[in-house]
Amino acid sequence: MRIASAIRPAMDREVPLAVDVLRRAGFGSQVARLLEYPRRSPNAAILVAEGRNGGVVGVACTAVFATSGWIGAVGVAPEARRGGLGTALTEAAVQWLRGRGARTVLLYATEAGRPVYERLGFVAEERAIAWRGVAGAAPPLDLQRLGDADRARLRTLDHGVTGERRDNVLDAINPLAGVFAPGGVNGMVGWAIASPWGAGTAIASTRPETGVALMAAATSGPSAGTLIVPDGNLAAGDALRAWRFVRLNDALRMRLGPAVAWNPDQQFGLFNLFWG
Ligand SMILES: CC(C)(COP(=O)(O)OP(=O)(O)OC[C@H]1O[C@@H](n2cnc3c(N)ncnc32)[C@H](O)[C@@H]1OP(=O)(O)O)[C@@H](O)C(=O)NCCC(=O)NCCS
Repeated sequence: MRIASAIRPAMDREVPLAVDVLRRAGFGSQVARLLEYPRRSPNAAILVAEGRNGGVVGVACTAVFATSGWIGAVGVAPEARRGGLGTALTEAAVQWLRGRGARTVLLYATEAGRPVYERLGFVAEERAIAWRGVAGAAPPLDLQRLGDADRARLRTLDHGVTGERRDNVLDAINPLAGVFAPGGVNGMVGWAIASPWGAGTAIASTRPETGVALMAAATSGPSAGTLIVPDGNLAAGDALRAWRFVRLNDALRMRLGPAVAWNPDQQFGLFNLFWG
């Protein structure tokens, strides 16, 4: 009870302290950039656990969509672990999301996080793997630059792929930086978008060969790029192995609440910690 009551949204001046905790929890040097979405969006939050001397000792971030929500960047300072803070932060994040309409709460778990989430009732769905490299040969593809006029089609395709209504985050990407493959009934069979706060390029496609071509476009070099893809996307995995990408790490998608109708075989690049 004492711990739970100390969990609250971060004040602006505490964001650097939250970043420091996440760095020490192993989230890497890019984590400050990742926190920009929950820091700025009214539909997302950075929750912090206060330590005894008023500093930040734990963090959990949230992002809500229509009836789904995501938890990401859950980290507790090494010296404050195994005292229930990770559990309390996750519970507070679930409450935050449920209070805003999320029936299903999703996250990507590390091995350290998995037992914490399982105890709270989360169930395993599927693994996502992060790969790094430069793409080799790919199917030829006619790509067009995304503009504001394409937003409705982009959302429709995203809904079909993720089973979620991610307008909150898609609309926050302004200007749109990305490309799409024309075709199909919707006029768009795939897209690739970079976001200011994303870990890798987000890529969705209803056709495997288009998805692979978009992956190639996103990691054409000369420096290596990162792509995070569901293990169940066999076309993506085959292409990444053929291009000799290096496997960096993996995480397990977990769910609390009813399943959403997502299509992992149509995801060729995941966004980041807060929205799959
Ligand atoms: C995962 C992480 C957030 C967990 O934080 P935490 O504060 O240690 O979490 P909790 O204390 O709630 O639970 C951790 C363990 O401590 C145990 N614990 C909780 N309260 C305890 C207490 N008072 N005394 C002893 N053990 C306790 C829990 O039962 C749990 O045990 P288990 O994992 O062996 O089953 C933390 O390890 C971390 O930051 N890891 C690195 C980053 C990471 O992997 N984040 C997850 C991303 S999905």
